[in-house]
Amino acid sequence: CGIVGVVGKSARDIILNGLTNLEYRGYDSAGIYLNDLEGNEYLTKAVGRISNLKDKLTPDEQGLVGIGHTRWATHGQPTVDNAHPHFDETKRFYLVHNGVIENYLELKEKYLQGVKFHSDTDTEVVVQLISKIARDKNLDGFSAFKEALKLVKGSYAFLLIDNTKPDHVYIAKNKSPMMLGLGDGFNIIASDAISVLDQTKTFVDLQDGDVGDITKDSFIIENFDGEKQEREPHVLNIDPNAASKGTYEFYMLKEIDEQPGVMRHLSQDYLDDAGHPVVDKNIVDAMSKADRLYIFAAGTSYHAGLVGKDLFETLTGIPTEVGYASEAGYHFPMMSKNPFFIFLSQSGETADSRVVLKEANKRGIPSLTMTNVEGSTLSREASYTMLLKAGPEIAVASTKAYTAQVALQAILAKAIGENLANPNAKNFALKEELALAAEGIQQIVDGKEKIKKLADEYLIHSRNAFYIGRGIDHAVALEGALKLKEVSYIQTEGFAAAELKHGTISLIEEGTPVIALISDPITADLTRGNIQEVASRGASVITIAAKKLAKYGDTLVLPNIDYLLSPLLTVVPTQLLAYYASKDKGLDVDKPRNLAKSVTVE
Ligand code: G6P
Repeated sequence: CGIVGVVGKSARDIILNGLTNLEYRGYDSAGIYLNDLEGNEYLTKAVGRISNLKDKLTPDEQGLVGIGHTRWATHGQPTVDNAHPHFDETKRFYLVHNGVIENYLELKEKYLQGVKFHSDTDTEVVVQLISKIARDKNLDGFSAFKEALKLVKGSYAFLLIDNTKPDHVYIAKNKSPMMLGLGDGFNIIASDAISVLDQTKTFVDLQDGDVGDITKDSFIIENFDGEKQEREPHVLNIDPNAASKGTYEFYMLKEIDEQPGVMRHLSQDYLDDAGHPVVDKNIVDAMSKADRLYIFAAGTSYHAGLVGKDLFETLTGIPTEVGYASEAGYHFPMMSKNPFFIFLSQSGETADSRVVLKEANKRGIPSLTMTNVEGSTLSREASYTMLLKAGPEIAVASTKAYTAQVALQAILAKAIGENLANPNAKNFALKEELALAAEGIQQIVDGKEKIKKLADEYLIHSRNAFYIGRGIDHAVALEGALKLKEVSYIQTEGFAAAELKHGTISLIEEGTPVIALISDPITADLTRGNIQEVASRGASVITIAAKKLAKYGDTLVLPNIDYLLSPLLTVVPTQLLAYYASKDKGLDVDKPRNLAKSVTVE
């Protein structure tokens, strides 16, 4: 979910704008509370996008203070009643929340018997609790809020308004992201800085356990016990235009097209003229001491991690394991003597990964976060950070962050490998290969019309599809399948090519699309055999092959590149197939149903 609060300035526009920028965090429903400080208050909610909320607001609903929310449903269906802001039965307090309250049923039972509820959400329990405490103990709003927080367990970024003191917004943070933006005569609180960059560039990073009282020209940050916390403002230098769609209909295509530039940037920023990696020496030293690397991530980042395993093992000789963060958090893998953890996360906010990192910190395991977002939670909490520098990624389906993660892992692996005098690392001509990647991606995106035709002919009328590949192509098959299914709703599975015949081949029917990836020289011929097996059972096969392995009749032939970096090229046609399948089915490519880009709940 995304939240925005404003004190001191045309709250309606700032909140609606901010929420629109935060739609990547969810878009099941949205709501806004406004107070004009002259005794008028307005609460409006709508199911679906922020645009629906805008349509519902009348021109006179304005305010100098307000809070807004865009929701990704966890507890309770995406209905108007369940949309935030929530209020207590006396309609004194209004609350928006990002996160999950774990003990809400317990709190309801213990403290709120007889209270009339209007929603099924965990959030309403908290606002009712604040109100109950204020009444029972005769406390002011801020004190009641702090009392309530002592009872609440879970993750949250809260914005609270007490309409008996409407020129204040009270805030609290635990495990869910929240930034405070400072303006001239106004202040803003938001889930991320980018969403309100048009208003201010000066921000205060809030930390877990922070509680705050924000007015138009002051902010007080305390812990739950009322002790003051010093928080220094800093200026963020991000170009707000970097997040604009320009002439593109959808961000996803813009971001696919940006990938050659991302490759060039990474090469410039992380490799010197002689092609040696320029990586923080502390990271290289710490990782060189490790006897095993563990990569944790979710979704597309996890798939980038699968490629990372090959890169790290080949170039450093250090055994590497890859795991779903969501699994490792509660079933911690067996550790080697000197482990080192790598977290891959576009947003740097994924709650599943954070659970693993917290445990790693507890056990004193050194860690690195590779992320696209400077100052993000996973970056702050890990021992080290490397930035992907891919520019803001807005489309929910990740594209350029994946290729950036693959390239940056290659750079890091070479740095450690060179430090360990690994000959594979020494001989890996990364600078030249990244230049080939940039050119190769450019060539593929320039030929996107052909890929659109393939999507229209083979995919958009199909109920299901398969990606197959071996070796590193298997990792890309998993990512290609995720991309296609998440944006086009065509059920797609990624498979190790040879595994199909052990069961799943029974799903192949006349016309079932099977997309085969062939970049691995060792197994290329075997994959061709697997293609024959599905083709002879009626599958419509699309082959995507590296030039040096291509055969007459291959559907798409990709430029040559080192096998280890082949995902940088192979993934691009899979991204474009997904994009066109979604767009040509008339779907909202950038915001597929039920998803959120950054998932800050477990
Ligand atoms: C969400 C997004 C995915 C993304 C995953 C991990 O589920 O919808 O596209 O891959 O989170 O996100 P992260 O920011 O940690 O890479």
